[in-house]
Amino acid sequence: MAKIANDKTQSYFITFEGGEGSGKSTQIQMLADKLKKNNVPHITTREPGGTPESENIRELLMSGGKDRWDGVTELLLMSAARREHCRKIIWPALENSQWVLCDRFVDSTMAYQGYAHGTGRAAVEQIQNVVLHQFRPDLTIILDMPIDVGLKRAKARGKTTRFDNLDEQFHQSVRDAFLDIARREPNRCTVIDASGSMEAVHDAIWQVVTSRFAVT
Ligand code: TMP
Repeated sequence: MAKIANDKTQSYFITFEGGEGSGKSTQIQMLADKLKKNNVPHITTREPGGTPESENIRELLMSGGKDRWDGVTELLLMSAARREHCRKIIWPALENSQWVLCDRFVDSTMAYQGYAHGTGRAAVEQIQNVVLHQFRPDLTIILDMPIDVGLKRAKARGKTTRFDNLDEQFHQSVRDAFLDIARREPNRCTVIDASGSMEAVHDAIWQVVTSRFAVT
């Protein structure tokens, strides 16, 4: 893919996706540090969340028993949180020439609610079209690793959520879903093996980012 010139007023929306414990937040921080060194204005944010209202919705989604919400209700709550996040944080930042690095976005809804929870691709696509119109990430980095490694890492972090407590079959479906999404949209999505060292994964991400967008 041709490199897009960065005249420092052009901004990009980069999303990070992957299963539990795949190292997204570490990698977002490492990429943010690198962008800072290169004087690229940027923000980091996450979903569900990113605004006080969306963080409230996050709390509803993350707490309680695993059957507290079904897939459709989760799809609606995630999408409501996303709408607020886009309107108040993501779209203004991009307009303001800041790159946005986001921990999860639409592909998480497709993988978790659409595939693993079984609401189906069409339902997710319909709601996302209402929430986002044509807006989609410029680049999506999918951090891929075997689910047992990721779940072990997530448990070691201590705090577990409703999602960590779902069974292995669910998490395997999420992993397969991300790989399927990447196969369907190879121009937007890049799969990176996340089982290597933090530095190796960061180097791979930096290579992808700099091959797509000029940062210096
Ligand atoms: P995380 O902050 O540890 O990534 O946790 C967020 C959880 O929310 C994670 O288990 C994935 C889940 N999630 C969805 O199910 N659908 C979504 O659309 C998003 C953004 C997250």
